[in-house]
Amino acid sequence: MSFDVNAIRAQFPVLQREVNGKPLVYLDNAATTQKPQAVIDALVEYYTQYNSNVHRGAHHLSDEATRRYEQARDILAKFINAARREEVIWTSGTTEAINLVANGVGQLFKAGDEIIVTELEHHANLVTWQQACKRSGATLKICPIFDSGELDIATFDTLLNDNTRLVALPHVSNALGTVNPIKEISLKAKQKGAWVLVDGAQGIAHGDVDVQAIGCDFYVFSGHKLFAPTGVGVLWGRKEILETWPVWQTGGEMIADVDYQTATWGELPNRLEAGTPNIAGVIGLGAAVKWFSALDMQAIHAHEQDLLAYASKRAKEIEGMRIIGTAPNKVGVMSFELAGAHPADIGFILDKQGVAIRTGDNCAQPLMKRLGLPGTARASFSIYNTRKDIDQLIEALKKAKTMLA
Ligand code: ALA
Repeated sequence: MSFDVNAIRAQFPVLQREVNGKPLVYLDNAATTQKPQAVIDALVEYYTQYNSNVHRGAHHLSDEATRRYEQARDILAKFINAARREEVIWTSGTTEAINLVANGVGQLFKAGDEIIVTELEHHANLVTWQQACKRSGATLKICPIFDSGELDIATFDTLLNDNTRLVALPHVSNALGTVNPIKEISLKAKQKGAWVLVDGAQGIAHGDVDVQAIGCDFYVFSGHKLFAPTGVGVLWGRKEILETWPVWQTGGEMIADVDYQTATWGELPNRLEAGTPNIAGVIGLGAAVKWFSALDMQAIHAHEQDLLAYASKRAKEIEGMRIIGTAPNKVGVMSFELAGAHPADIGFILDKQGVAIRTGDNCAQPLMKRLGLPGTARASFSIYNTRKDIDQLIEALKKAKTMLA
């Protein structure tokens, strides 16, 4: 297989537009990715051809919707190498998936238990565990990082002990791009009998995710960072754990038998999926994964690494620009500061030149405080970005510098 970035770009309608009279340079992919025509077509097809509820109807449209909806589960299970299709639970996104895990394992925490997260956490994988600890009396421990953004594994080893019930960490840092050694950490945590949750929100679109090879218990992600619609995501969890969990939301779909005073619960995955789901979103996610899986993963990885290396090299042309997060193992995320300029002002000036980035705390306030920063400006790359996009980013930054510094 080969990789033709222009052929890929041509499949993303939004990339053809202008913003503020300039060609759009979309570098906010860690916040959300754009959608290829194949995904847009899948959504239009659902709403124009077979819009219907799933698992309920006695009619053709419902059968078709159910088939396509469940096919998406098969596609996702294969994509992440889940051992069983019923281990793929639809959620509204990463945040809901983490909350679902907290409802499952969090109810078993007790005083004396310890939960380990890292200094890299997105708020979703931190505040949720703060709350679970408050409810149960368990203790939250934080694995530190080095200034490069790499985890301090030696300290992690000292935090991990027989009281550790859960280790929850990001596959990839949304703010710094660090790729964490999730296999190594999973192995160590499992040896202590702890559960391992990997927040895959940023990891899922950057390479082959094989949940069995990782060795974790839960891997969660959102569709919208993987070229799919917003409002749909996945909790993958080991069946033998998921089926022991208390129920989550109650309602239609998740029951087996209901009387006026009592109810019993159905099997996985329905047991954890109450109510009418985001049918179009799930079908869109299936279409996105089908589209993405057909690409050459090695070539994608090489392309993103080339963009990161090129951007890092060109950043050196700008005096006062400092890249935040310099771990050797990084994806295409370039957070930075520009001496004398507030990140929000940088974002505003770049936007005027058609360049879309994120600025602020990156939903990781404790990490920003740890790094002594008010926030960062963040350019994040995806498969459809080019060196030309980076040239435009650098030119826009030079302009911002003359205006702000
Ligand atoms: N968590 C997303 C980001 O990093 C929204 O931008």
